[in-house]
This record gives sequence, structure tokens and C-alpha cells, in this order.
Amino acid sequence: MPKIAMLGLGGMGRHHAHVLTKKLGHTLFAVSDEFPEARDRFKAEYPGTLVFENHKDLLEKARPDVAWVCLPTFLHHPVALDCAAAGVHVMLEKPMALKSDECRAIDTAAKKAKIKLMLAFCRRFDAHWGTLRKILAEDSVLGRPVVWRQMFAGSGPGRWFMDQNLGGGPFIDGCVHNHDFNLWTFGKAVSVKSSLVRLAPTSAWDTGVADIVFERGDRTSLNWSWGLPKGSRGINTQDVLGAKGALHFGIPEAHRPADFDPQTQDGFHVIGQDGAVSVHTFHKNDMYEEEDRHFLECVERDREPSVGAAEGLAATELAERIFADAERTGS
Ligand SMILES: NC(=O)c1ccc[n+]([C@@H]2O[C@H](COP(=O)([O-])OP(=O)(O)OC[C@H]3O[C@@H](n4cnc5c(N)ncnc54)[C@H](O)[C@@H]3O)[C@@H](O)[C@H]2O)c1
Repeated sequence: MPKIAMLGLGGMGRHHAHVLTKKLGHTLFAVSDEFPEARDRFKAEYPGTLVFENHKDLLEKARPDVAWVCLPTFLHHPVALDCAAAGVHVMLEKPMALKSDECRAIDTAAKKAKIKLMLAFCRRFDAHWGTLRKILAEDSVLGRPVVWRQMFAGSGPGRWFMDQNLGGGPFIDGCVHNHDFNLWTFGKAVSVKSSLVRLAPTSAWDTGVADIVFERGDRTSLNWSWGLPKGSRGINTQDVLGAKGALHFGIPEAHRPADFDPQTQDGFHVIGQDGAVSVHTFHKNDMYEEEDRHFLECVERDREPSVGAAEGLAATELAERIFADAERTGS
């Protein structure tokens, strides 16, 4: 079994720690976090793991085989470079980095060091998103092109996430999952238009619309806000439109198949011509478990992860184009 290190013990670090130990049966060899509260909380839960105050000490003294980098996004670039220099395989949380130049530098360093580098684009391992991707790939369901409309509004995660130079705000941090899924499903983005604003006193754009057209004419409109005050929320909804109908997330009770078990299954329904409803079901899975298992298998069997630097770079580049258009139009 590889010696596993966890760099960053916040929300995602602790979640991956749980998946790796409780679901996949691994032990954590060493962890690091700069903040004493995070280290103390972790020590209480996982006695026996080596705990360091920073990743440099960990890499030098514990010499792990693999590291999960679950630090704030502005640290992905320098820490991934340090891991590559130490010859440590990297599972890098999303977004790969805030700037495409940083993504390229990580890619170059990983290739030079011959380490495995995987991007934590968890939707790629999720039965939910995988089923949607299959539906969207089949022109027979909605037709082609499709128009995906997504609205989300809440107070967001705050803190470093809302600093343009530390986390970049929702159009890179939250929407990067959409960016990766859309590029994976629809191909290259040929047009990116955006109008962004700051509702809250943050340096990152917290609210706005990004309209993206992909190479086969498919398009998405991301209407997002992380600019609401704590405790407030706006609309959270989405659908996908095509010449043959509209896809909705979930299946109303009246249209569920007889053997449908809502505990273990979920699905989509499409309302077509004359109100005809068709349903698409799937069995729920744990995308983080699949993601972490895939990376460990790649390390143990010397295979390339199915999602890596190229995909991380493409998603960050798309976010940069959204920011560039907002700058260009002054909105
Ligand atoms: N894949 C997903 O579904 C998903 C979900 C949430 C977050 N993320 C990503 O995971 C990464 C970590 O996010 P998180 O939610 O765990 O964040 P978090 O703020 O909860 O945790 C970050 C950890 O890094 C530590 N840290 C070390 N050095 C730091 C420094 N200089 N400044 C601030 N914190 C420092 C903090 O103590 C904290 O324990 C981010 O890149 C985020 O975008 C991914």
C-alpha cells in the first residue's frame, strides 16, 4: 500500500481522509496543516498519523508516495511543484490553479518528475453526472444542439474563496465542475460571454452570468451568485432544452418505474412532444470514493489517471475567458 499524505485538513482534506480510511481501507501516513486547530481536530480523530505544521517538512521527513493536495486554491501551484520535486504522486483538488500559466508549470513539473497527477474533477466519477452525459451525447433524446440553463444563488463559502487572488469566487471555484463537465461533454468552447458584478464587499466577482457556446453549437448559461448575505438564498434550478424536449433533474413520483427505489436510485425526466414524459434512472454511487480508488489504482498499477493536467488546464482557461470577457465589457 502506498504511503498516503494529506496536505490541508479543512473540508475536503477531512472528507478525502474519511473516504480513504473508512471506505477504501487505507491508513493515512502523514498529514499537514498550518493551523493548530485543524491539526488538533485531526489528531483527535486519527491518532497514529504523523502530523506536520507544513507540507515542506512533511515531504522532507515523512517521504510519502502520494499526496492529496486539499489546500486553498492559491496554494495548489506552489505545493504541487514541491510534491513533483519530491517525486510524490499528486491528487490535486479542483481548480488545478487560478491561472493557466500556473497549470502549465504544474504539468511541466509533473512530467519532468514522472509523477502521476490527477485532478479531482469528481463529477467524472459520479453515476448522476455520467447518466446526464450519456443522455446529452445521444442526439435522439433532446436533439442537437442543447441549451443548458443553470441558476444558483446563495451566500457561498466566503473566506479565501471570495478573494480573486486566493480562491477566485464562484465562476472558477464552484463553476469549475461545470466547466470540466461541459468541456468533457460538448468539446471546445468557441464563444464565451459574461457579465459579472460584486454584490458583496469581496475582491472576486460574486454574481453574474456566463454564456458559453461549444463547438457543436451546444450552449450553457451559468447564472450564479455567491453574493448573498449569510442565511439568504435565491433560486437553485436547472434544465436542458433541445428541439425534442426539456430535460429536468429528478423524477416526479407519478413517473417513477414500479421497481424504483429512491434510497438507492435517482434520475432525470424529459418532457417531449405533447407532454410525453420519458425517464432515465441510475443507481447512486459515491463519486469521491470512485475518484480516490481510481487514483490509487493508477499509482499501484502504473497507469495514467483518466483526468489530469490537460483537463485541469482547459477548465481554468475557460474560467479565465469568463473573467476576460467581464473585464472587456467592464461588467
Ligand atoms: N471537489 C470538490 O467537491 C470540492 C469541494 C470543496 C472544495 N474543493 C476544493 O478543495 C480545496 C480545499 O477546499 P476546502 O473546502 O477544504 O477549504 P478549507 O478552507 O475548508 O480547508 C483548507 C485547509 O487548508 C489549510 N491551510 C493551510 N495553509 C493555509 C493558508 N495559507 N491559508 C488558508 N488555509 C490554509 C487550512 O487550515 C484548512 O484546514 C480548494 O481548492 C477547493 O476549491 C473541492
